[in-house]
Amino acid sequence: MQKSIEASKNAYAPYSHFSVGACILAESGNIYCGCNFENGSFGMTICAERNATGSAVLYGERKFKAIAIYSPNQDNCTPCGACRQVLHEFCTDDNMDVIVKVGDGLKVYTLAQLLPESFTL
Ligand code: THU
Repeated sequence: MQKSIEASKNAYAPYSHFSVGACILAESGNIYCGCNFENGSFGMTICAERNATGSAVLYGERKFKAIAIYSPNQDNCTPCGACRQVLHEFCTDDNMDVIVKVGDGLKVYTLAQLLPESFTL
């Protein structure tokens, strides 16, 4: 979560002013961070979770154990629907932990809780 807080400081969010940082713990034990970056063509915006996923994949990771997500704008900042599906691709049985900040503490979901009956090709 500390690394996600740091990542959120580099978010490029001039349109929504909603900054997000995300860090993935991969099965290797390595951590990959990302922030959201927006675009004047709004639909081109990339969420922090997908940015972090891209970094992990670039370094050869294929299984994720956990992701921590932080926004200074909102507690309980769980991933959007699209990002839930993207994360689903890189874990087994949707058993990855999704960790968010709530108040002074952390809340831990499993991806299975956030994306029931997920689609697998
Ligand atoms: N956003 C994320 O980066 N992750 C989320 O989980 C929710 C939304 C970004 C996308 C956009 O830049 C801004 O937050 C507002 O939707």
